[in-house]
Amino acid sequence: MSTGIYGGDEVGAVVLDIGSHTTRGGFAGEDMPKADFKTTVGVLADAEDITDGSTRKKYCIDTVNIKVPRNSMEMVNFVQDCMIEDWDTFEKVFEYFYKSYIKSSADQHPLLMSEAPWNISSKREKLTEIMFEKYSVPAFYLCKNPVLSAFASGRSTALILDSGASHTTAVPVYDGYVIQQAVTKTSLGGNFLIEECKNYFQHENIDIIPHFSVNETIEDFIQSVIQCSDNNYEEEIESMEATGPVHHEFPDGFNRKFGLERFRIAESLFDTNYIRSHSNPLVQSVSQIISSAIAKVDIDMRPSMYNGIIVVGSNSLLNGFSDRLMTDLANKLPASTKLKVNASQINVERRFSSWIGGSILASLGSFQQLWISKQEYEESGRNCVDKKCP
Ligand SMILES: Nc1ncnc2c1ncn2[C@@H]1O[C@H](COP(=O)(O)OP(=O)(O)OP(=O)(O)O)[C@@H](O)[C@H]1O
Ligand SMILES: [Mg+2]
Repeated sequence: MSTGIYGGDEVGAVVLDIGSHTTRGGFAGEDMPKADFKTTVGVLADAEDITDGSTRKKYCIDTVNIKVPRNSMEMVNFVQDCMIEDWDTFEKVFEYFYKSYIKSSADQHPLLMSEAPWNISSKREKLTEIMFEKYSVPAFYLCKNPVLSAFASGRSTALILDSGASHTTAVPVYDGYVIQQAVTKTSLGGNFLIEECKNYFQHENIDIIPHFSVNETIEDFIQSVIQCSDNNYEEEIESMEATGPVHHEFPDGFNRKFGLERFRIAESLFDTNYIRSHSNPLVQSVSQIISSAIAKVDIDMRPSMYNGIIVVGSNSLLNGFSDRLMTDLANKLPASTKLKVNASQINVERRFSSWIGGSILASLGSFQQLWISKQEYEESGRNCVDKKCP
């Protein structure tokens, strides 16, 4: 082992998984992340600094702090298309995470971070530079989300279907590597469902109150009311009617029963003809992207992909999501296709899959030689991340 390789005190590595909706972070080797908070930050542009009376930006970070309504608080998301876009806000969140959850400084722990498979080289290098130059981490590693989710399920080859807030993605992972040219995305994820609900509420003249937390109120509605039907909407109407409506009360006390519409909204994820909020004839359903992604991999790899579909991401916790996905795939594929859809029944395993994969990876003895050490960074510069973290 060269002296440049971080091979020493692997204990205490930190794993950080930043999604466009939720940030998850904690210590490698633990079962669950210590931190699990909304990625959105509240920014107060001209808050007064009590120490010297000057005015500067104040950042309200973490789910509990952004829930407090404040005049002129702007909600900022530093993640766009699953990549870090606003580096100043990212640093504020990074520092907050160490201070509030790790309770120690970043220079004390090797750090493994997750990234989207399409993260661009300039952003990877910038992140690596910030970590070594500004925060003096002793060692650093960047790993793609779907690879981590596959590891969390104990596999190195799988088709990861990740339904998050901004997208649903189908990513083939083979032998621990993302098959880059086969990564397939659709914009149909949690944010899309919120838009569908807003459209429906407008149509029904339902005003969501309080206005400062419309999205949270709708998320709550989605989790408790929206339901994926077992099969195509048209075919299931009778059985859905038999299920009966669901009663829901909103935070302002308004309450109503929701019948077929709760299935119809979810149907838009599986049949794009049901989309109300936009009309993009090219958008693919969450089941279609699986077949599209698998069609782009080598023909020899396809059976192991169909036989190893792993469903992750919090939007997949939508009632009936994985059962419907399975039915859709089984209906569309030749009967001879060996199909296996794995969706953990333990919600946190789906919500935290890439963090859990990172926690496992960073604590493996065999992984310790893969870290980029501070010395390696100093010798080779920021582009060492492109060589060491595929
Ligand atoms: N129990 C649930 N049922 C349905 N949807 C849920 C549930 N819990 C969370 N969600 C939705 O899942 C989405 C967040 O998913 P996830 O935490 O996987 O996203 P992320 O990784 O932060 O974002 P992205 O993958 O887009 O970068 C949100 O839209 C949220 O409303
Ligand atoms: Mg995600």
